[in-house]
Amino acid sequence: MIIQPRTRGFICLTAHPDGALQAVKNQIEYVKSKGEIKNGPKKVLVIGASTGFGLSSRITAAFGSDAATIGVFFEKPASEGKMGTAGWYNSAAFEKEAHAAGLYAKSINGDAFSDEVKKETIELIKKDLGQVDLVVYSLASPRRTHPKTGVAHASVLKPIGQPYTNKTVDFHTGVVSDVTIAPVENDVDIPNTIAVMGGEDWKFWIEELKAAGVLAEGVKTVAYSYIGPELTFPIYRNGTIGQAKNDLEATVTVLNDLLKDLNGVSYVSVNKALVTQSSSAIPVVPLYISLLYKVMKAKGTHEGTIEQMQRLFADRLYTENGEVALDEAGRIRVDDWEMADDVQAEVAKLWNEITTENLSEISDIEGYRKEFFNLFGFEIDGIDYEKDANENVQVTSIE
Ligand code: NAD
Ligand code: NA
Repeated sequence: MIIQPRTRGFICLTAHPDGALQAVKNQIEYVKSKGEIKNGPKKVLVIGASTGFGLSSRITAAFGSDAATIGVFFEKPASEGKMGTAGWYNSAAFEKEAHAAGLYAKSINGDAFSDEVKKETIELIKKDLGQVDLVVYSLASPRRTHPKTGVAHASVLKPIGQPYTNKTVDFHTGVVSDVTIAPVENDVDIPNTIAVMGGEDWKFWIEELKAAGVLAEGVKTVAYSYIGPELTFPIYRNGTIGQAKNDLEATVTVLNDLLKDLNGVSYVSVNKALVTQSSSAIPVVPLYISLLYKVMKAKGTHEGTIEQMQRLFADRLYTENGEVALDEAGRIRVDDWEMADDVQAEVAKLWNEITTENLSEISDIEGYRKEFFNLFGFEIDGIDYEKDANENVQVTSIE
């Protein structure tokens, strides 16, 4: 079958297995080109391992320090003439390459918020690895069914207090327009968003892994956060999602207590704004990313998820002297190049000027668009999209 992109809003409904394989290979090549990460992790659990930062974390661990990896994610498998999701093809590709390199790699496809998937993961660790020395928590989801109460929480992307108006772009049509987003007007949106994207599920994972005895002495765990520029504060950091990120960041203290007797430690890493399936759903942010890419590419400081995660592991989490650089709030910062004063000043200037007419000239909207399609295995260099796709993707170790 010939597979072409089919989009609905900010979602792409199709995915290309050969493109996904090539994209994973490109990430692997990048990690290898940076050399071995000395003192890196050896047995790694990645929760949210199929796309975005989680996939790049898994690739970095495996191909940067020969780690055995278990990946947990929620994807639709390819089956009998039905297409799988991008994250399924990514994971199949990762496992193929990892196994070819002689690395242990198995995956669990299911709801990471559930008790069942946590139990299944613990059984797999016990059976195959004994313990893990790194747990990466990289879930991004619009909803969570709470495992103890059964309540289905839906997260929202809303400002708090007053309406927020700013520029936004439809990256398919290239039209820049003003969007106004109404603030939270009830008592449930904030707690629901915290329930989905805050730290409780990360805590549940670490508690249950610890209780089962599958965390190694000196274990590390890391989750991902975002801050960004003032112009997106109302919709991001000071909005509903920002409340969830505050909660996630506060969970570090709780987990450090919990891990103390194992000499374990937990971190939040604040990462750069990047094109992923999750970030493309946020209003205003894609236009900001298009300008950010333009400025950072011109300066030679642009990074994608794999460059970010390779730098996180090599220069932050696993340094040669064992020291981990933190900001005044105790967070790892790999958004440092995004937040550099000169970068932010240029983006702010362009933000005031940007219109539909000058979009392709002063922003990297083309780069944004291409990266969006790349997430689904499309527009990957070297792939012939007029040819039948290889849909016969065998993944025996995905349970
Ligand atoms: P993503 O959408 O690419 O990845 C999300 C992952 O979570 C996928 O592997 C998906 O399968 C998995 N997942 C979702 N729901 C699940 C469920 N119920 N059970 C099991 N797996 C599930 O997202 P991303 O952008 O890589 O985000 C990962 C983290 O990084 C989030 O905390 C996000 O806030 C943070 N972050 C993102 C950006 C950005 O610009 N994209 C910047 C900084 C931080
Ligand atoms: Na991820």
